[in-house]
Amino acid sequence: MTHKESPVEEISATASKTTDQNGAGKSAQQKFYLPPEELAQNSNIMAYAREKGFASVDELYQWTIQNPQQFWGEMATRFLDWYQPWNHVLDESQAPFYKWFTRATTNIVHNAIERHANGANRDKTALIWESEQGEVRRFTYAEFAAEVNRFANVLKSQGVKRGDIVTVYLSRVPELLFAMHAIVKLGALHSVVYGGFSTDALHSRILDAKSRVVITGDGGWMNNKIVELKKITDAAVDEAGEVVEHVIVVRRTGHDVMIKEGRDVWYHELAAQPGMDEPCATEQMDAEDPMFLLYTSGSTGTPKGLVHSCGGYQVQVATTLSFTFDIKPDDVYWCTADPGWITGHSYIVYGPMILGATQVMYEGAPTYPNPGRWWEIAQKYGVTIIYTAPTAVRSLMRFGDDVPAQYDLSKLRLLGSVGEPINPEAWRWYHRVVGQNRCPIMDTWWQTETGAFMITPNPTTPLKPGSGTKPFLGIEADVLTEEGQPARQSDDGLLVIKRPWPSMLRTIHGDPQRYVDTYWSRLPGLYTAGDSARRDEDGYFWVIGRIDDVIKVSGYRLGTAEVESALVSHPAVAEAAAIGLPHELKGNAIHTFVILRQGYEATDALAEELRKHVGKEMGPIARPEAVNFVPNLPKTRSGKIMRRVLKARSLGLPEGDLSTLEG
Ligand code: WT7
Repeated sequence: MTHKESPVEEISATASKTTDQNGAGKSAQQKFYLPPEELAQNSNIMAYAREKGFASVDELYQWTIQNPQQFWGEMATRFLDWYQPWNHVLDESQAPFYKWFTRATTNIVHNAIERHANGANRDKTALIWESEQGEVRRFTYAEFAAEVNRFANVLKSQGVKRGDIVTVYLSRVPELLFAMHAIVKLGALHSVVYGGFSTDALHSRILDAKSRVVITGDGGWMNNKIVELKKITDAAVDEAGEVVEHVIVVRRTGHDVMIKEGRDVWYHELAAQPGMDEPCATEQMDAEDPMFLLYTSGSTGTPKGLVHSCGGYQVQVATTLSFTFDIKPDDVYWCTADPGWITGHSYIVYGPMILGATQVMYEGAPTYPNPGRWWEIAQKYGVTIIYTAPTAVRSLMRFGDDVPAQYDLSKLRLLGSVGEPINPEAWRWYHRVVGQNRCPIMDTWWQTETGAFMITPNPTTPLKPGSGTKPFLGIEADVLTEEGQPARQSDDGLLVIKRPWPSMLRTIHGDPQRYVDTYWSRLPGLYTAGDSARRDEDGYFWVIGRIDDVIKVSGYRLGTAEVESALVSHPAVAEAAAIGLPHELKGNAIHTFVILRQGYEATDALAEELRKHVGKEMGPIARPEAVNFVPNLPKTRSGKIMRRVLKARSLGLPEGDLSTLEG
């Protein structure tokens, strides 16, 4: 894609563009934001297009969807080493249980760490970690490898072996990364539970994964307060009964915690034992062996343990990161996500390290001790790429343009967004104030299920604020009606992926039928994402939001059923329903409707108590915005709560088809 216009110029396209649907209605004039010409021409993706003899990324894209297996095969050798090569790039014989890179053997830890530690990147900084209090820890690739090796030996000493599932519940400290790599090095699977979740979430995940070993911390720091990780772990492990044999405790806060004799051990004590620095072998894994589980919310109360693979996962993670965020040897990359979510797994823990990048990780809250903290970090380390979430952009935008203006952000060259649709106003602020009109924004659409970017701009794409633009190389996406027909231009429809991709989830842990039913049954042969979307006249995708019972709160994914079950676990609650309603900062906020049991009175104090109760059971992010006491709930004749009716009523909208509503 070549543009003659000057790099920072915004061009107004024809007056007929009317796709700014996330913003102030349909605007008559749609602006394209062009990437700087030099950035586009020097980008990794453009270099690959030229290698293949194409003049533009659009031409390259067309080739990749005609030759997806050749494309992904080339990527697998371009970015990774393999112990054994594959027979077939893709085996579709047991669809939708697709297999990628059959018979190949690999370990992501070799690609992400060991080949760098034993090669030219040995003394390159892999990770710069800054605590909330300002403490800094730096690790070269060689030092990082030594930490992972030690952690792996410690885990081995606790009996962890190939195929085990180890649950990890830590705050945002380097040990979280060491632990994840160490687990995978041994051929075991990690199941990381976000450190902001609470007892219920942790307990149900430990139980579903049957983890014999849990790794946690004494606590974590957030907003100058201690998050009581160990206390929460104790409660969760107790509830899980006999399942857990060992709890390995990483010291972070140093405050007093209970250490249960025979079950709990300090990581630093184990690590100090003789032999822990001896080389620990990296297991050679089949490409289709599972690499990790990550639980996510769906339409029912039981979280789904999504299973990702050892081979295809790393191929797409490395390719997308290189071609979208254009990582170069000198970049200082910073993804602000928590490593406990898929964004952190793919684009902190593994992706940047496969590419041998230098990255920054910050432990704490963006506004601690002041709203300039993030920009200060970006200035201090000369950050060149920031990847964050719309909710963070919106909340930092509130403090005004002057805050970022106090810092030198001139090294920034690319920005990114993920987690929910970014509203054009926030997009423009991010582009203008943070990116100084210079940095294109990569609005990456993907999911825990997809493992890596699916719809995203690249450094050559003309951008429209609020649109993830077009599918990534090798990915074919569409917007279809319920009947599977192409939706009319600018009509809402189901977002579907039309063919398998290497980093796709392989199944749901312990429930393969649920995998088939949830993702592959709505429209036969197609993957349905659970999102609605539109395509505009330029073929750009506009994701609107979830169509299932998932609520995106500040980009976090929560199930209505989980919130409801937390409410019903309170003695005062007979029945409950949860819905998401628009919220200025959070994108959506949780609103709940509660029928009380006999003998309880609807008071403000009780409402507050219920909000806190949900926060305690599930974690602070799940605390409802509002608790409304109601005498009854709209239900279908079969007794299912009609959340869409509650939502329509709350928004003052027509209630739609009520033919199935109970008498
Ligand atoms: C859901 C997946 C992917 C990592 C973080 C979230 C929404 C995600 C975007 C985006 C519009 C987005 C979708 C999707 N979403 N990115 N760029 N534009 N919506 O992973 O928790 O599995 O959530 O997040 O609704 O289905 P997740």
